[in-house]
Amino acid sequence: MHAFSYKNGQLHCEDVALQGLADTYGTPTYVYSANTILDHFRRLHLALGDLDHEIAFAVKANSNLSVLRILADEGAGFDIVSGGELFRVIKAGGNPQQCTFAGVGKTREEIIYALQHQIYSFNVESESELRYLNEVAGELGVIAPAAVRVNPNIDAKTHKYISTGKSENKFGIDFEAIIDLYDRASRELPNIRLRGLQMHIGSQLTSVKPFMEAVEKVKPLALALKEKHNIEFWSIGGGIGIVYHDSLASGAVSWWDGQDAESKPLTIEEYGAAVVPLLQDVGLKILLEPGRYIVGNAGVLLTKCLYEKKGSAKTFKIVDAGMNDLIRPALYEGHHEIAPLQEHKGDLVKADVVGPICESGDFFCQDREMPDFQPGESIALLSAGAYGFVMASNYNSRPLPAEILVDGATHRVVRKRQTLEDIIAGE
Ligand code: LLP
Repeated sequence: MHAFSYKNGQLHCEDVALQGLADTYGTPTYVYSANTILDHFRRLHLALGDLDHEIAFAVKANSNLSVLRILADEGAGFDIVSGGELFRVIKAGGNPQQCTFAGVGKTREEIIYALQHQIYSFNVESESELRYLNEVAGELGVIAPAAVRVNPNIDAKTHKYISTGKSENKFGIDFEAIIDLYDRASRELPNIRLRGLQMHIGSQLTSVKPFMEAVEKVKPLALALKEKHNIEFWSIGGGIGIVYHDSLASGAVSWWDGQDAESKPLTIEEYGAAVVPLLQDVGLKILLEPGRYIVGNAGVLLTKCLYEKKGSAKTFKIVDAGMNDLIRPALYEGHHEIAPLQEHKGDLVKADVVGPICESGDFFCQDREMPDFQPGESIALLSAGAYGFVMASNYNSRPLPAEILVDGATHRVVRKRQTLEDIIAGE
C-alpha cells in the first residue's frame, strides 16, 4: 500500500502534511515515503515464498542515497548500469558482491571499477563485450563473473520506448545463439566465469502473461546451461508494472493497471503465484531486478500553480515544475494523477497542466478532468518515485528539485535543491 492520502482535507505522505513541506522547502520538490518502499520490498519477498531468490533493486529507477540505504539495510542486492550507480550503492552501504551490472555499453573504466569491487555478475549484452571483459580481467589478473542477456523475442506489450525483449531491440543476444556462445566462451575466454543467465523483456508490464511466456520459453535454456556450464543463477529481470491511473483512490500501489484488454488488475501476490511454480524446479538462484514496483508509487512531485490561462480552445494551468523535472509524460505518454494538496470537493474542470519550459511537449496532462485548483495552490503529481528525479535535467538552466524522505511523522531533506551556482560550477 502506498502512504499518500487525504486526512482532514490535507494530502499527507504517511503522517506528514505535504502543504507544510511545500511551504518550508518550496517547489518543485520530490517527496518519498520510506515505509512504502519497505512495504513493497518485503511484499515481493513474501510473494516469492521459499523460492531461492534475491531481489536486486534497479538503481536506475531511483538512485538517491537515502533510498538506496533503506534497501541496503534490508539486505537488498542492486542492479546497476554504470560506474556512477555502483559508486552510489557503495556510498549507501550496499554490498557490491550483491550487484549485477547491466547495459550494452560498459566502458573500460567501469569494468575495472566493478572488477575491483568484486561485483556478483556482469550481465553481458554482446559477444564483443564478453571478449573485452575477458581481456580486461586478464590484464588485472582476475576472473570476471558473467551472465549473458538472452533476448527471448517476446512482446511485452508496453510502450515501445520501454520494450526490450523483441529481436528488433538493441538488448541481449538472440535466444538461438546463446548455447553456442557459452560453449565458445568456455573454450576461448579463460578469464570469464559463466555464472548465470539474464533476461528482461520490458518495463511497466501490466499483464503477467508475457512474464510467464518468457520464463517458459527460456527455462529449457537455463536448464541446459546449468547442466553444461554449471551456471548458478537466472535473472528474470524487472518490469513489474504499477498503477498510475486512480492510484490515490485505490491506494493499491502494488496492483497493476488494467489499461489494455489483455491485462487485469493483479497483486504482487498473484504475480508470485504465477511465476514461482514455473521457477521452483529449476534449481538455480532466481534474481529479480524490480525498479518501478519498489519506488514508483512511493514518491510524488510537489509543484505550485503559477498562473491560469483560459484560451479559446483550452484552459491551461501553468505550474512551476517542467518536463526537465519529470519527463515521463513527454517521453512515454506517461500518466501521473494530479492531487491538490488541499482537497477539493467541488466540480471538476477540463484543463491542461503545463510547465514553464519553452516546448509544446512540456505538459503533465492534456484535456483532463481535474479539481479546479488555482494560482498559489500546490498539487502533487503522483506515482513519480520511479524514473522521476533520476531523469531530471538542468534544461532551461533550471535547478534540480529538492528531495525529501518521510518516515512516519518525521521527514528530512535527502537532497538539497540545486542553486544557480551549482548549475554553472565547472563551466
Ligand atoms: N533490469 C533491466 C535490465 C532494465 O533495463 C530495467 C529497466 C530494469 C531491470 C528495471 O525495470 P522496472 O522494474 O523498473 O520496470 N524510464 C522509463 C523506464 C525505463 C526502464 C529501463 N530499464 C519510464 O519512466 O517508464
